[in-house]
Amino acid sequence: MMTPNSSPSGSASPVLEVRNIVKRYGGLSAVDNVSFSLRQGEILGLIGPNGAGKTTMFDLVAGSAQPTAGQIMLGGRDVSAEPAHARITNGLGRTFQIPKPFPELSLLDNVLLARQGQAGESLFANFLRPGQVAAQERAAREKAKELLDFVLLSRLTHEPARVLSGGQRKLLELARVLMADPAIILLDEPAAGVNASLLEVIIERIKEINARGITFLLIEHNIDMVSRLCHRVLVMASGQLLCEGTPDEVARDPRVIEAYLGGAA
Ligand SMILES: Nc1ncnc2c1ncn2[C@@H]1O[C@H](COP(=O)(O)OP(=O)(O)O)[C@@H](O)[C@H]1O
Ligand SMILES: [Mg+2]
Repeated sequence: MMTPNSSPSGSASPVLEVRNIVKRYGGLSAVDNVSFSLRQGEILGLIGPNGAGKTTMFDLVAGSAQPTAGQIMLGGRDVSAEPAHARITNGLGRTFQIPKPFPELSLLDNVLLARQGQAGESLFANFLRPGQVAAQERAAREKAKELLDFVLLSRLTHEPARVLSGGQRKLLELARVLMADPAIILLDEPAAGVNASLLEVIIERIKEINARGITFLLIEHNIDMVSRLCHRVLVMASGQLLCEGTPDEVARDPRVIEAYLGGAA
């Protein structure tokens, strides 16, 4: 059904705020003075033709690219100068348009590698408190297995990631991002290359995660998925914010239709 979701019942203060952000690559403005905010508990869609600047926007929010100008506020704090790993520690998770799992590692190890700040990372902690480290290790394995179960991949827990289909890789990405307990998740085209039955699984999982209070920013070309999931949608074209509204509103907006027909797609 194309009915838009009801608005989330979170607090009014944004969990993420992008202020007048600009990213230039040489003479090209990949992102050109874009501002928006993401509210607690919301699923916000980000759509637009290829080359619109959507992935670059994710890179800027996640900290894998530095803005030419503007600010990124996370939980009311300016994180523009902070590296990506600091933002992950502060509850921001992202998946990639093209997932790149470690092909020879098992699914379990791929998920385990995505966790944050385990004591076992420090040789010193391991030396002082081996019992605690072992207990954390067990808990992490348990959690990783539960997440693989959640994304319906538990059958393949000990298989190398290279055996996965494109759709299964997207699900593995979801399990990986959840391992770090993010409060905000950026999803870059989770439905691309995914068959219809896996797509239903991905949509259901996103709904379930969102129902637990986790906020999403979702880049997606699949308009059915956007309509079913997103409370609100932003449309980008040529680096700029073209308009925003409910999924139905933007789908009917002549500027949006024009951007897709005449745009870089
Ligand atoms: N690292 C980069 N170096 C140079 N140009 C880039 C880089 N990343 C993106 N671009 C350019 O920025 C524009 C926006 O790209 P992108 O953010 O990937 O768009 P979208 O995800 O909406 O398809 C494109 O013209 C792209 O070629
Ligand atoms: Mg992209």
